[in-house]
Amino acid sequence: MTSAPQLHTGVCVRVPAKVNLELRVGPPRPDGFHSLATVYQAVSLFDTIEVSADRDWGIEVVGRTAAGVPADESNLALRAAHALADAAGIDRPVRIRVTKEIPVAGGMAGGSADAAGALLACHRLWGLDLSPAELAAIAAGLGSDIPFLLAGGTALGGGRGERVVPTATRGTYHWVFALSDEGLSTPAVYAECDRLRGAAPVPQPEPSADLLAALSFGNAEAVADAMGNDLQEAALSMQPALAGVLEAGLSFGALAGIVSGSGPTLAFLCRDAESAIDLAVSLTASGAAADVRKAHGPAAVGPVEVATCR
Ligand code: C5P
Repeated sequence: MTSAPQLHTGVCVRVPAKVNLELRVGPPRPDGFHSLATVYQAVSLFDTIEVSADRDWGIEVVGRTAAGVPADESNLALRAAHALADAAGIDRPVRIRVTKEIPVAGGMAGGSADAAGALLACHRLWGLDLSPAELAAIAAGLGSDIPFLLAGGTALGGGRGERVVPTATRGTYHWVFALSDEGLSTPAVYAECDRLRGAAPVPQPEPSADLLAALSFGNAEAVADAMGNDLQEAALSMQPALAGVLEAGLSFGALAGIVSGSGPTLAFLCRDAESAIDLAVSLTASGAAADVRKAHGPAAVGPVEVATCR
């Protein structure tokens, strides 16, 4: 006999993936991180995080891209819930259910999105009153991309990526993401970037004024011209087959194609929603990419809602 699922009142939030429109990487810092100048855009591929009070701490991971995501204490969402409980001086166990749509180990900050969602949902469930700056500080302690994903949208990122300043943009940007069969480890891609650069001095990174101007005008062609990623060469060196997929995307009409973050997901910016559909079809029909996703940006987080969770 199967028993009906137990229902709890919990809190639920949807958190988007991100793409870096620009990722300028400076020299390694004494703490091992690299100084960055980046422009983040959140895109409409979402993980959903539900938290509910329970007797013990626990996590469950389901959804289209759940395979390979640890459902144990190493999961970033559970670590985020513990970090918030520690900061607030409380011990109120929660059960977390993550429904994954964001590609895993793909350079789209899927784990960071889950951590941001867990922070927002637990903050609400526990009735806490931390300021946005206090939440951002806890987020930064867990990962460089997490403060950005507390709100999404479009933002400039400095420091190691954790210092974010929201940026006004116009328009909607249409994306096609080509997924890779195998993930890439972010530390390994940064290490490969350092290796390829050798001993040459690396200047402190700065965001491009052209990109920020193009975003403020909502001009997708100008945004495409100004996009760039200093980790691209390293990601291509570790997965050389990506170069052919990039070429295919451009030949099928993308305005621009870049490696997303540390890769290996490739991000193609398209002229409009129709071109994105055409590109997604061409990439799959030609066999250039086995798996693609369409999305648009900028996407927002939330709302953080009280919900009935399984
Ligand atoms: O902060 P996060 O956990 O996302 O970083 C994962 C790894 O990526 C770091 O341990 C580091 O090796 C590398 N990284 C870096 N410089 C950054 C961000 C990440 O070297 N600004």
